[in-house]
Amino acid sequence: MNSKKKIALITGASSGLGKATAIKLAGAGFHIVLAGRSEEKNQIVINEINSSVGQNSCEWLPLDLKSLLSVKNCADLFLKSNRPLSLLINNAGVAGASGRTSEGFELSFGVNYLGHFLLTNLLLNSLKKSRNSRIVTITSKVHKHVRFIDWELVIGKTSSITGISEYAVSKLANILFNRELAKKLVGTNVSAYCLHPGIVDTNIWRTLPFFLKPLLKIKSMQTPEEGIKTIVYCSLEAPHAENGYYYSNKRIDTPSDIAKSDALAVELWERSREWTKQFM
Ligand SMILES: NC(=O)c1ccc[n+]([C@@H]2O[C@H](COP(=O)([O-])OP(=O)(O)OC[C@H]3O[C@@H](n4cnc5c(N)ncnc54)[C@H](OP(=O)(O)O)[C@@H]3O)[C@@H](O)[C@H]2O)c1
Repeated sequence: MNSKKKIALITGASSGLGKATAIKLAGAGFHIVLAGRSEEKNQIVINEINSSVGQNSCEWLPLDLKSLLSVKNCADLFLKSNRPLSLLINNAGVAGASGRTSEGFELSFGVNYLGHFLLTNLLLNSLKKSRNSRIVTITSKVHKHVRFIDWELVIGKTSSITGISEYAVSKLANILFNRELAKKLVGTNVSAYCLHPGIVDTNIWRTLPFFLKPLLKIKSMQTPEEGIKTIVYCSLEAPHAENGYYYSNKRIDTPSDIAKSDALAVELWERSREWTKQFM
């Protein structure tokens, strides 16, 4: 790679918003690390980027957020190269899926939130080595449907039929994580943002139960290229002073009341540290 390029690590860049963001940021001069499950799918994106931006603009790192061990291995591989990281985009996600992670967490909670909690913490020193680095976490407006977190339900198999309530909890966790992370970053060169991208036509909707799919036709969906505008804004332009905010439509937005609870954000952070301590 060109050692002068800033490095952006994006989770889940094999499709949808992650892929469109990788292409956009590679075009803006970043070296892109695509962290994801399938080498084959990620190689297609790498070929696309290399053919438009030039060879060695990106690389793939194996990451399955369903396994905390895989998260640790992914971070270790990156850290071994001893390179500063300028941008971490916690993007990968599942919705309407059912199951549990390798360590026994509810699937959406584990993949969308807990894996990213561990990844971020493991990469923090690398982010501190860059000037003005950023952590951008993709959440969703769907978090507004959550009234409280039932700590017993984030462990074990998805209990609802649709998996949507679990998805909403995982997206609330993303916002609470961003809130507490930002506090811990005060006084450092790193800032953290989270955002709702809008409703975007991506693969994420494929796992929705069939009886909910007609609802999607009612909403007019953005293309992934349109849907990344707030991700790109938070990655390149949002002011350092706005560390910790929730964005939509390239502007600070107001999340739900519970997403603004400092006490809940601290509790989630402490529980997550305990859950992941053997991998830290
Ligand atoms: N689309 C929307 O309308 C919308 C709205 C609000 C928020 N979001 C958020 O936007 C983010 C991106 O989603 P998208 O809409 O672009 O969906 P997408 O096209 O389905 O992309 C999801 C990405 O996550 C990856 N992923 C899934 N499970 C993973 C795992 N266990 N380990 C590593 N990577 C995994 C997928 O990789 P594989 O190719 O290996 O499956 C894929 O690259 C998600 O966090 C989602 O919650 C989307």
